[in-house]
Order: sequence, then C-alpha cells, then structure tokens
Amino acid sequence: MIVFVVGTVICAGENGTIDGQGSVWWDMWKKGTLPFTRPHLLELMDSSNAIVSNLVFQDSPFWNIHPVYCSNVLIRNLTILAPHDSPNTDGIDPDSSSNVCIEDCNISTGDDLIAIKSGWDEYGIACGRPSSGITIRRITGSSPFAGFSVGSETSGGVENVLAEHLNFYSSGFGVHIKTNSGRGGFIRNITVSDVVLDNVRYGLRIAGDVGGHPDERYNHSALPIVDSLTIKNVQGQNIKEAGLIKGIPNSAFSRICLSNIKLHGSAPVRPWKCAAVSGAALDVQPSPCTELTSTSGMSFCTNSL
Ligand SMILES: *[C@@H]1O[C@H](CO)[C@@H](O)[C@H](O)[C@H]1NC(C)=O
Ligand SMILES: *[C@@H]1O[C@H](CO)[C@@H](O)[C@H](O)[C@H]1NC(C)=O
Ligand SMILES: *[C@@H]1O[C@H](CO)[C@@H](O)[C@H](O)[C@H]1NC(C)=O
Ligand SMILES: *[C@@H]1O[C@H](CO)[C@@H](O)[C@H](O)[C@H]1NC(C)=O
Ligand SMILES: *[C@@H]1O[C@H](CO)[C@@H](O)[C@H](O)[C@H]1NC(C)=O
Repeated sequence: MIVFVVGTVICAGENGTIDGQGSVWWDMWKKGTLPFTRPHLLELMDSSNAIVSNLVFQDSPFWNIHPVYCSNVLIRNLTILAPHDSPNTDGIDPDSSSNVCIEDCNISTGDDLIAIKSGWDEYGIACGRPSSGITIRRITGSSPFAGFSVGSETSGGVENVLAEHLNFYSSGFGVHIKTNSGRGGFIRNITVSDVVLDNVRYGLRIAGDVGGHPDERYNHSALPIVDSLTIKNVQGQNIKEAGLIKGIPNSAFSRICLSNIKLHGSAPVRPWKCAAVSGAALDVQPSPCTELTSTSGMSFCTNSL
C-alpha cells in the first residue's frame, strides 16, 4: 500500500487489521527465487500532517511502516506483529523525515522494531535529506535484532531524536545505533532514556561497521560522524553482554554519555567492549570501559541528564 498525503489526512482505524500475507514473499526470498525487492506494508511518501493510529499490522512482506520524505507524522497506538523468523520485517522506519512522533505501540517482528534511517551510501549522500525531530515513547515488544535502532542507512544524517519509556524483552539488542564507512552523514544529539530490558543479549551497541553497501560505487572516504549520544536510565535483567561501542578509527565517536545503566544477568554479564570512542559514564554496571571513564570534560554528559 503506497499512500501520498497532502494536507491533513487521517489514516486511522479502530483496531482493524492490515494483513500483508508476507509468508509467500518470505519463502521466495529465502529460496532466492525473488527477482526484485519486497514491498513495505504502508509506504507514506512526500507527505505531511498524517496520522496512523489504532490499527494492527501483521505479516508484512518487508518493513511494515515506512514514512519517507515526510513531515509532521503521528503514529500512535498500533500493534505490529510478524514472526521472529520473518526476514526484514522492521516495525516502523522513519526515513529522511522530520517531526515524527511514534507512541504507544506494541511491536514484535523479525527485525528492528523501530529504525530511524536517512539514505544509503552514495545515493543517500546525493539526496542529502536528514531525519530530525523524532520522538519515540512507550514502545514495547520483542525482536531477534534491536528494539530501538538508528541506521544503518544514515547517509543524509539523523539528529535531534528522543526515545523514552521503552520496554523490550526476548531481543537481540536493546538499543542499536549503527553506521558504516562509506555512509557519510552524521548521527548526533540522540537521547535514549528510561529503558527496561528483559532477556536481551546485548544491552547497547553503537557500531561503525554495520551493514553492507548498495554497490561498489560507494565513496570509501565518506566517514560518518557520530557525536553526542546520551543513553540513560536503563535497567536490564537476564542480559548476556553489556554491549559494544566501536567507533571508526579515522572518525572516532565522541561525547558518548552513559548514565544510570544497570544490567544484570543470571550469569555474570560480559563486560563492555570499546574502541575509537570518547565520552563519559556515570553509575554504569557492569563498570564501563576505560575509554568512557575520563573524569575531565564530563560537563557535556552531566548537562545532558
Ligand atoms: C487490538 O488488537 C490487539 C492485537 O490483536 C489486541 O491485543 C487488543 O486487545 C485489541 N484491542 C481492542 C480494544 O480490541
Ligand atoms: C488505544 O487503543 C486502545 C484499545 O486498543 C483504546 O482503548 C485507546 O482509546 C486508544 N488510544 C487512543 C489515544 O486512541
Ligand atoms: C502486545 O501484543 C501481544 C499480541 O497481541 C499481546 O500478547 C501483548 O499482551 C501485548 N502487550 C501489551 C503490553 O499490550
Ligand atoms: C537535541 O534534540 C532535542 C530533541 O530531542 C532538541 O530539543 C534539542 O534542541 C536538540 N539540541 C540541539 C543542540 O540541537
Ligand atoms: C568522498 O567523501 C569525501 C569525504 O566526505 C569527500 O571529501 C569527497 O569529495 C567524496 N568524493 C566524491 C567523489 O564524492
């Protein structure tokens, strides 16, 4: 379903179901017999002032809801379901869009529940449209990949994001912020707050080596900038690994602020791993990696709490 919305149009329902009947697509994709890509269940393109609310989306062939080149979008009170083994069934992916609010959604699918994006390598750099002003709150659900993510396609840049009151269980990652060399763009001024995790493999992952390239024409020198990310008030139980923060050697991640993060496991939680990153950590368990323990110049972190 592709929808172009101009002006104030409301796409809402009363818990009606939009069923993508994706299994035929997933099977063809798994067998490698699909000669083209798979459709999103709801594609909002070049639209403004749209509301999507009170609906159930299920079994999307590919991503569920994809607002791209949109502004002023409210997505509220949805249930989004797809089996954990369904490929690429992301829940909601705001892409090169601004002023987007996603709230009160219950999402369990086969890929990231929410992923903020803004274009892929040389094509995204040429297009140059960021995602900004995104608020996400009160999301619950389960994913074999991430509950909340940014990336990995962020070539137009992603900034000014607040994600709060997130509750993820039986998932691969709580929060995953991901990009790659060749993407260009930036990820900055992202705050993730008040997260409850249960039975999650990695609490947090911020990494600069995730995702493939569309073709060989990408610019190897286009290094992303990752700066000013605050992750705070995270409580986890049944966690396996605290997480990984791995910047890019010639573009180290900066001003990464971790605060009040308590990750517990039934076995000892495996420690943080860090590389090419600077920042600060306050009241973090397991104890943070040395890259984040410098006590000088922490004001960026304390000021962001
Ligand atoms: C809406 O649908 C979801 C998923 O099927 C269900 O859990 C919920 O109870 C429904 N709400 C109402 C008011 O019918
Ligand atoms: C959200 O959905 C529930 C039932 O599923 C309903 O009771 C409630 O009024 C809805 N909230 C809004 C803001 O529409
Ligand atoms: C989310 O939806 C699933 C499937 O309908 C339901 O089992 C679960 O109770 C819901 N969770 C919340 C917090 O509404
Ligand atoms: C950072 O993002 C928030 C929205 O989450 C916004 O209110 C704030 O103005 C931004 N800060 C800067 C310095 O742009
Ligand atoms: C590749 O990226 C670098 C760094 O952003 C830039 O200076 C250079 O102009 C880009 N090259 C091309 C061919 O776009």
